[in-house]
Amino acid sequence: MKNTTIEDCKLIDLRKISDPRGNLTPIEGKIDVPFEINRVYYLYDVPAGENRGAHAHKELQQLIIAANGSFTITLDDGEQRKSFTLNRPYQGLIIVPGIWRDLGDFSSGAVLVCLASEHYDEDDYIREYEDFLNYKHS
Ligand code: TYD
Repeated sequence: MKNTTIEDCKLIDLRKISDPRGNLTPIEGKIDVPFEINRVYYLYDVPAGENRGAHAHKELQQLIIAANGSFTITLDDGEQRKSFTLNRPYQGLIIVPGIWRDLGDFSSGAVLVCLASEHYDEDDYIREYEDFLNYKHS
């Protein structure tokens, strides 16, 4: 999916079931996110000052959530860049395929949860920025 832009990526408010015993946020495939969820992974114990990401995916759709703490995601479609700070467990960022992402500014204790539309597939990654630009412009 190379004709996507950062305008196709958006911050969404997830359902929040407030309760004096503690709040709950459910996420269901095809209901709260526009895809079936085939994989979940989380990033944690990120040392201060470290960056993650720095790649794009050809087909993978993702919802990224800050389950705890905060971090910044910078999206790049080869033409424009936009940064989002995630810091609420009931908000998520939908990232469509064909978008380069850099992750940084992880707070102490930050937990990034990713819900993904596909199983892990290294062939779906574009790991060199130059290759990404060629892919977008091909
Ligand atoms: P990667 O997606 O490159 O993380 P980041 O871009 O944030 O640095 O993944 C890091 C390593 O983890 C890489 O060797 C592949 C492996 N990995 C899996 O085995 N399964 C997964 O679902 C993910 C996301 C990564």
